[in-house]
Amino acid sequence: MPTGHRKIIIAIDGYSACGKSTLARALAKRLHYLHVDSGAMYRAVSLYVIQHQIDIHDTDAMAEALSGISIHLSFENDAQVTWLNHENVEEAIREPRINQVVSDVSTLSAVRKEMVAQQRRMGTDKGIVMDGRDIGTVVFPQADLKLFLVSELAIRVERRWLELQKKGIISTKDEIRKNLLLRDEIDSSRDDSPLRKAEDATEIDTSYLTPEEQLQIAYDLARSTISQKELMD
Ligand code: CDP
Repeated sequence: MPTGHRKIIIAIDGYSACGKSTLARALAKRLHYLHVDSGAMYRAVSLYVIQHQIDIHDTDAMAEALSGISIHLSFENDAQVTWLNHENVEEAIREPRINQVVSDVSTLSAVRKEMVAQQRRMGTDKGIVMDGRDIGTVVFPQADLKLFLVSELAIRVERRWLELQKKGIISTKDEIRKNLLLRDEIDSSRDDSPLRKAEDATEIDTSYLTPEEQLQIAYDLARSTISQKELMD
């Protein structure tokens, strides 16, 4: 079925290692849309904080840091590349040391304000699939299609472990489990934009679905959303 002319905004939220980025990337490719992994931006801020040994609870130091940070995303062969002050940090932001601090950095309203403003600008022309924690609730509450991914913890641990193994990063399953649980807790309980399912989001449990099956479910939902929009035009 050809993709219609009507472009929509698709928000994919959920817990870590539930397959958000994999699904978002594949869906965007199939629809010829832009895929934005919003977590990469919070990871880039975290890398800067580590490199400059900034105390994230020092409001002035954080404000100064934010004014010195420029985050830019480029898209090469359907893959997102994250740039921090003109340096390609795509690999560095996936290192386990970032996982230790990223959720704490992401609780800070000053950080969220900057990131959300930039993310909203990327959606101006629609035709975008963005994944994260607050995309359907805060960044694009008007998104045409919202998906919320969940998955069993043991499966999330296994997936993240395999992902890191492939990159040659050594981490035990126990360390990964602890970090995922800690980040779930921090992400869901923060005051500013906590991780939660938007009321109008469709929940997908990815535990026993292959990436192809997840893509088919999401693609069918996207197609029917686009058709409905076109009928209303
Ligand atoms: O890849 P993984 O699902 O583990 O994480 P990520 O999507 O790269 O996001 C890393 C962290 O950034 C999350 O644990 C959140 O603390 C934060 N984040 C956020 O607060 N809001 C977003 N829209 C995306 C990520």
